[in-house]
Amino acid sequence: MPVKDDISITRLPTAPELSRFAADLILDSALGHVRSDGRFTLALSGGSTPRPTHRLLAEEPHVSAMPWRDTFVFWVDERCVPPGHPVSNYGNAVEDFIQHVPLEARNVFPMPTVSPAAFGASRYEAQLREFFGLPPGAVPRFDLVVLGLGTDGHTASLFPGDPSLEDRERLVLAVHGGTPPVDRLTLTLPVLNNSGEAVFLVSGGEKAGVVRAALEDRDFTLPAARVVPGKIQWLLDCEAASGLSKPLF
Ligand code: 6PG
Repeated sequence: MPVKDDISITRLPTAPELSRFAADLILDSALGHVRSDGRFTLALSGGSTPRPTHRLLAEEPHVSAMPWRDTFVFWVDERCVPPGHPVSNYGNAVEDFIQHVPLEARNVFPMPTVSPAAFGASRYEAQLREFFGLPPGAVPRFDLVVLGLGTDGHTASLFPGDPSLEDRERLVLAVHGGTPPVDRLTLTLPVLNNSGEAVFLVSGGEKAGVVRAALEDRDFTLPAARVVPGKIQWLLDCEAASGLSKPLF
């Protein structure tokens, strides 16, 4: 698996193989952290790319192998819409796996999509501080953060040029943007960069240009290029990797 800088890049032939690789990675990470730490803290992104991976977590062999009792699920970002709305990241995760697996409600931490969004951001930040037992000023450390990539280089709900990118104090912020352009909550870069591991799931030829900009050109105006925790993997299908100049194998 070749490494560019300190970033590990894996190219999978197809999107379904990317999804299966990602489900295996989540399972391996969960088993490893539960074995070593007694729990696994996972933060999920929304959008369409991760949904097949989420569905695989509710099927064999993953559904029986996952340590659900000691797995704690959070979100990287959320659209401020009701859980039943078709663009709700939490609602889609419930549909794709949460309602099909033995996860207790106490293990699942949806972002509060209340109004004003800033109130929800503060509430989620307080929930993180309580769950992780954080002293003032400390940053939570998720074992694994699963991220996507927008064609504009956004990740989570951190959009290019948005002031939220520069915030070093907050853990969760309310922003407005994306597709659909709605109020959103997002983890901030300090949280993403404090994670034990981040994995990007990127599929489709429409992302090839921004993948190259982030991974080869290292264009740090792109929020995704600024996610550089200790361990980071980019999982790309062939189409998303097609803009990279250097062979990956
Ligand atoms: C969100 C996501 C967002 C997503 C990218 C890619 O809530 O919108 O967290 O960051 O990962 O927009 O979305 P697709 O996977 O649908 O291309």
